[in-house]
Amino acid sequence: MAAPHALNRHVALVGFMGAGKSTLGPLLAERLGRTFVSVDAVVEERARMSVAELFATRGEAAFRSAECDAALELLSRTPPSVLELGGGALGVETTRAALATSAFTLHLDVSVDEAWSRVSGSDRPLAQDRESFGARFDERGGLYADAADAVATDLDGAVLAAAGIRFAPHTEASGHAVAVDPRVAQLYRVAATHLVEGKSVADVDMLWRGLELERAQVLVAVGGGTTTDAAGFAAATYKRGIDWVAVPSTLVGQVDAAIGGKTGVDLPEGKNLVGAFHWPRATVIDVSLLETLPDEERRNGLAEVVKTGLLTGEPVWELDAERQVRACAAYKAAICLRDPYERGDRAFLNLGHTFGHALESASDYHLPHGRAVALGLLAALRLSGMETGMVEDVLTPSPVALDRDRAWDALHRDKKVRDGRVNLVLLDGPGKPYVTPDVELGRVREALDALIA
Ligand SMILES: NC(=O)c1ccc[n+]([C@@H]2O[C@H](COP(=O)([O-])OP(=O)(O)OC[C@H]3O[C@@H](n4cnc5c(N)ncnc54)[C@H](O)[C@@H]3O)[C@@H](O)[C@H]2O)c1
Repeated sequence: MAAPHALNRHVALVGFMGAGKSTLGPLLAERLGRTFVSVDAVVEERARMSVAELFATRGEAAFRSAECDAALELLSRTPPSVLELGGGALGVETTRAALATSAFTLHLDVSVDEAWSRVSGSDRPLAQDRESFGARFDERGGLYADAADAVATDLDGAVLAAAGIRFAPHTEASGHAVAVDPRVAQLYRVAATHLVEGKSVADVDMLWRGLELERAQVLVAVGGGTTTDAAGFAAATYKRGIDWVAVPSTLVGQVDAAIGGKTGVDLPEGKNLVGAFHWPRATVIDVSLLETLPDEERRNGLAEVVKTGLLTGEPVWELDAERQVRACAAYKAAICLRDPYERGDRAFLNLGHTFGHALESASDYHLPHGRAVALGLLAALRLSGMETGMVEDVLTPSPVALDRDRAWDALHRDKKVRDGRVNLVLLDGPGKPYVTPDVELGRVREALDALIA
């Protein structure tokens, strides 16, 4: 069975010479927090000669054998890395079998003309003549299609594929049961086997008891974060875990909630108090679903988009809908692959949220999440010593009327507060987040108070 994503697996980049594997590979490794290894470089180091010399002196068969040995050894190593395989490595059955066991094989696709323009004139032994280059390109095409788990043409595409995310019509998601938000089921005539009204234990209980699935079957969840959190948690726990596919239908879902494997339910005592990490085997993003999204929900998502832009240092909110979602989804996917269990960088995603959650809680959750996050971003920027103009222009946050002491208590109760210190995500500038426990509590309180009318 094809590998669904690269969590706990090597990413093996394959593709024709000139596809950009050696340029994109190190960048992908950096985004995923992994090391980058070129199989060719390992072969060269061991043979103490270049691939061109190896071909010339010992022939292609000797090179393929050395390449296969190196690939097998690299694939057996932990932790998972990003490996670059030469264009012909997939021609060897043993290498293909090892890839199927240990790697997520990603085909970096390129047109033959683009590939030729990049490599002609180099000393590559198989790039000396346009005609045989073209013939080899055609011959290899089928091999890549057969062996690859996914295809990408650029860095964000590679990150998204590695996380199991693809942009496609929602109708392409398939499974054995379909849990759907009732409004989405009605709007899009989704053939639901289960309607998910909320994310309480009772909602998940309905799913547990209604699902009639085998361990190897798949649950599809179509809806916003409420639906994917609840159905994902049901999938994480039903028969000790079945596979699931997320089809996010809100902007929050497409840029945030359906990515990274956090699932869970709310208890009367607090939101998301029970949950599990359970990565969806696929996330299918259909941006056209957003056309029916109410304005309030769009604003909730826009706050997460702006947060992502501050974290990446790019004004992603200026992009059109599809590119905005793609850039934000790729950012979240990379950070979650890098830190699937939130032991490090994943905490950056909380930018603005510590304040936001405190305000939401003090309003008894009447304050919309997007408005709370927008205000939280203001506080984070102020404490970072940064301009707030952009957040004010795009999200137009205005101070909210609620009880200051209740908000302060809620911020204190937040799980990020320990030993009288609050862990905050701040920025050293656009695109430079860091976590610090060192902001004096008096300043934190001042920043919170400034958000309250
Ligand atoms: N797991 C995570 O990493 C993560 C991240 C962020 C948020 N969340 C969770 O997500 C939840 C919020 O999710 P949300 O903001 O997506 O909202 P939601 O799922 O509650 O949906 C909001 C509203 O939009 C409607 N809706 C959904 N899709 C629609 C569409 N295409 N057209 C018209 N209406 C549509 C729904 O019926 C609902 O009324 C929270 O519970 C939060 O805790 C989880």
